[in-house]
Amino acid sequence: MIEQLGSKDELRAAVAEARRESKTVGFVPTMGALHEGHLSLVRAARSRADLVVVSIFVNPTQFAPGEDFERYPRRLDEDMALLAAEGAEIVFTPSAETMYEAGATVTVDPGPLGDVLEGAARPGHFRGVATVVAKLLGIVRSDVAFFGEKDFQQLRIVERLARDLDIGTQIVGCPIVRDADGLALSSRNAYLGPAERAAALAIPEALEAAAQAAAWGETDGRAIEAAMREVLDAAGLEVGYAVLVDPATLRPVEAFEAPARALIAAKVGGVRLIDNCEIRPGRVPAHD
Ligand code: PAJ
Repeated sequence: MIEQLGSKDELRAAVAEARRESKTVGFVPTMGALHEGHLSLVRAARSRADLVVVSIFVNPTQFAPGEDFERYPRRLDEDMALLAAEGAEIVFTPSAETMYEAGATVTVDPGPLGDVLEGAARPGHFRGVATVVAKLLGIVRSDVAFFGEKDFQQLRIVERLARDLDIGTQIVGCPIVRDADGLALSSRNAYLGPAERAAALAIPEALEAAAQAAAWGETDGRAIEAAMREVLDAAGLEVGYAVLVDPATLRPVEAFEAPARALIAAKVGGVRLIDNCEIRPGRVPAHD
């Protein structure tokens, strides 16, 4: 049986009851409009925990004025049906007033990882994310929580948050789920018209170009970035960034000798999409 709970106290009571029965608790935070990417996290939680808690909360503090908070897709009935089918037990759906009690003034500083890439493009975004994730982890107090590599920088920040603030929840990263044509699933894909959807494929193609360049032995990070940009520019996308970074520090990789992460943000018809993949150095062709 799936249960929808709107208050922190109800949620805490339900988790406490499970704990009395010695159940382990897995948690998947989301903003709803669920797709296979979210559901893959729910399945990971289902396979590792006795009680699966999912939150659906479109967090206003991680959207800047002028971003898509108001029009962000909200589909609670469909989401509940999908989660019931996956065997999740509890769905936490707080209102903004429940999450943020009047007079709240303390927020979580995401640290230097929050200043680059998405953080540079969306000032305040990761403060909003870090704060709501700290609150959600504090409310649910699960043994383990699941986050997608789709939001690679967010995953890194959440890992640091859990470690640096001694949250006591294990953070598990899960692979990106893509459509058959390669586009990473995102709730924001719903904003794309058919022509934009086709143009957006340049993003996974650019990541593929980076992987190819690496496989052919390219060791210059800038050259790998140029290979990505070429594909994105040719498709007419407005590139936010197309970079090769160290997967731990998110700093640009110059000489590329160890697995790195290629990260892209690009706008297609006004819709900002992000994607990334691991890039492994290829073997430099042997000379004879
Ligand atoms: P949301 O965008 O709804 O994503 C919820 C979780 O699903 C995140 O961990 C995200 O990385 C993961 N996810 C999204 N698309 C995915 C895909 N194609 N493959 C694998 N995982 C995917 O991220 C947020 O919400 C919010 O910032 C949140 C963490 C809930 C805080 O408000």
